[in-house]
Amino acid sequence: MDSLLIKGSVPLRGEVTISGAKNAVLPIMAATLLTTEPCVIRRVPRLSDVQFMGQILTWLGAQVRSEGDTLRIQARKIQGAGDYDLIRKMRGSICVMGPLLGRLKQASVSLPGGCVIGARPINLHLKGFEALGARVTIEGGYVHARAKRLAGATMFLGGRAGSTVLGTANVMMAAVLAEGVTIIESAACEPEIVDLARFLTAMGAQISGAGSPTLTITGVKQLHGAEHEVIPDRIEAATYAIAAAATHGEVTLRGARAEHLRAVLDKLADAGVGIERRGADLTIRRPGRLKPVDITTLPYAGFPTDVQAQMMALMALTPGISIITERIFESRFMHVSELARLGADIEIEGPSAIVKGGKPLSGAPVMASDLRASAALVIAGLAARGTTQINRIYHLDRGYENIDGKLRQLGARIERIEES
Ligand code: EPU
Repeated sequence: MDSLLIKGSVPLRGEVTISGAKNAVLPIMAATLLTTEPCVIRRVPRLSDVQFMGQILTWLGAQVRSEGDTLRIQARKIQGAGDYDLIRKMRGSICVMGPLLGRLKQASVSLPGGCVIGARPINLHLKGFEALGARVTIEGGYVHARAKRLAGATMFLGGRAGSTVLGTANVMMAAVLAEGVTIIESAACEPEIVDLARFLTAMGAQISGAGSPTLTITGVKQLHGAEHEVIPDRIEAATYAIAAAATHGEVTLRGARAEHLRAVLDKLADAGVGIERRGADLTIRRPGRLKPVDITTLPYAGFPTDVQAQMMALMALTPGISIITERIFESRFMHVSELARLGADIEIEGPSAIVKGGKPLSGAPVMASDLRASAALVIAGLAARGTTQINRIYHLDRGYENIDGKLRQLGARIERIEES
């Protein structure tokens, strides 16, 4: 398995272009299953998760062609059952279920298991399908949903931790071809949901309220092909912003959408990071010593759980105590023990991590456990003295396009060691 070797203490300087958003492109790719006509998706990041989704769509019968950062997908004839092993590999693939149910009125996919960040149930997805009239059963590790017809309904999709992103996406994709009006209350408000709604609207769907907790979908008979450009990845942008701050650097994020990053930029500003917005670009600079800040992760527009680990790395480098509370996933603190190997002083107390920052970090061999934990280790390694080796970086390749190349362009001394 590949690893990354980072020689730390080098300030990042320069410009980095933000890629298309992983968590927007995955459901948008799935949405192409809703029409027999060709769809074109632009600004697609080159990620292993995108490749997986391409394989799943191909397995279901779609034609998927990739040229540079453009994907052309046509799902002329498809089947309703997803390959067990392919779907199990990536949790995001659950979002083929809504479009399959919408178009074929039946869908069978392997039940995604939990993962290192928590249990990750899909009860809310299934609740939504049932509200639309589907019969849902679980058998032999598969979840089957079947309906004679789908009928619009009013439903509440809030759960223990608030709204569900992929649950909202899934039910929205089934509802666009249901008869009548569907109202989803407590819908996820994430920009990725708004982007999916834009794509579906371009395909002929009737959706209002995207970006608010009440989504209204008026079913149509059929959808047509469409072209779409994916939004920039707000989590990738946040990760490079935090890396710039952690290394005392100055980095311009090209094409970052500041309006999607308010909670993160607000916390960075509170910590003393300099932020300058010029058109679609953001320049992040570290003027001097930072202050600790407390953070609680929440659904959008709150502080994103997908930036919690990276912010913890920054707080570990910042003198003083900060309390970071994780409210979305119950065990998303896998990075804590690995940050400790670099010298960070962090204690976990229930859903909170108490970060006693400012201890000098020094390089060590560490293990990536999930995507964002890996990003936190990269940030800590870039700031630490000496050499950090990050093993099992396939997690990073799931969600960060060319991360070592982009960091090298910013002056980082980072090398990928390929294991044969
Ligand atoms: N939940 C339920 N029941 C459900 C669905 C979710 O109880 O049926 C709970 C979850 O257990 C969690 C909370 O609701 O406590 C929120 O989970 P959500 O459904 O919103 O997560 P997701 O849609 O499965 C997406 C992203 C994640 C990101 C979360 C939260 C994709 C492919 N994944 O997951 O991204 O952390 O939303 O913003 O869009 C990542 O990119 O590293 C990543 C994990």
